[in-house]
Amino acid sequence: MKHKKKRIEKEYKEILTLTGKYLEQKKEQGERQVYLSENIEFSKKNKSLAMPENLLAELEKKLKNCRECNLGKSRTNLVFGAGNPNAWLMFVGEGPGHDEDMNGLPFIGRAGKLLTKIIEAMKMKREDVYIANIVKCHPMIDPDQPQKRGNDRPPRPEEIAQCKPFLLKQIEIIKPEVICTLGTHATQSLLEITTPIGVLRGKFCSFENCKLMPTYHPAALLRNSNLKKFVWEDMKKIMKEHSKN
Ligand code: URA
Repeated sequence: MKHKKKRIEKEYKEILTLTGKYLEQKKEQGERQVYLSENIEFSKKNKSLAMPENLLAELEKKLKNCRECNLGKSRTNLVFGAGNPNAWLMFVGEGPGHDEDMNGLPFIGRAGKLLTKIIEAMKMKREDVYIANIVKCHPMIDPDQPQKRGNDRPPRPEEIAQCKPFLLKQIEIIKPEVICTLGTHATQSLLEITTPIGVLRGKFCSFENCKLMPTYHPAALLRNSNLKKFVWEDMKKIMKEHSKN
């Protein structure tokens, strides 16, 4: 809520600054009066169109039929992302798996259920945060078998290059306070580095006006439960950071 209030305050400050500049300009041009007109209605309408939920819906609509890379050709559903368009916290995973491809929603399989538990342990609900992936379509080992389980692979550099601009647009619209990248691929592709996740995790870095916390992918926790304590340490750091704002 505080995060949302801060964003609204920022937007109002921007509007005031622009209005001030406009009036200064008019004064310099010798005008002594400005008139309020029906344009006020028009700008109100524009403002509501610029709400994050509308901007996300517009982007999703644009992407819906995307076939720009091979992933788009084999997918069943594009997995755009889900959650609160005003979220202060955004989770970014690597790419949809089988369950996500079948349903069009991010993180709903086994790894997703664990992510939900992590979010709930942070005293939030899935609907409070925003969840997205680096690529929006299921990267498959064998694209001819979309129904097959265990047919997952990490996204390839060319697939990431094709899809990443859409994730960046989502981040620009949502303006989260904190982004938590899940696992090697999400972290390395967003930060454009090759440092191992074991080195990066647990340390905040700056990314696009927000703080980014890399941590292990929930699928890694399913393979090795010893990693759970590190993820919880990272979540506590995220909560502490948020409590300062
Ligand atoms: N793993 C991911 O990285 N993303 C999903 O949406 C599901 C599993």
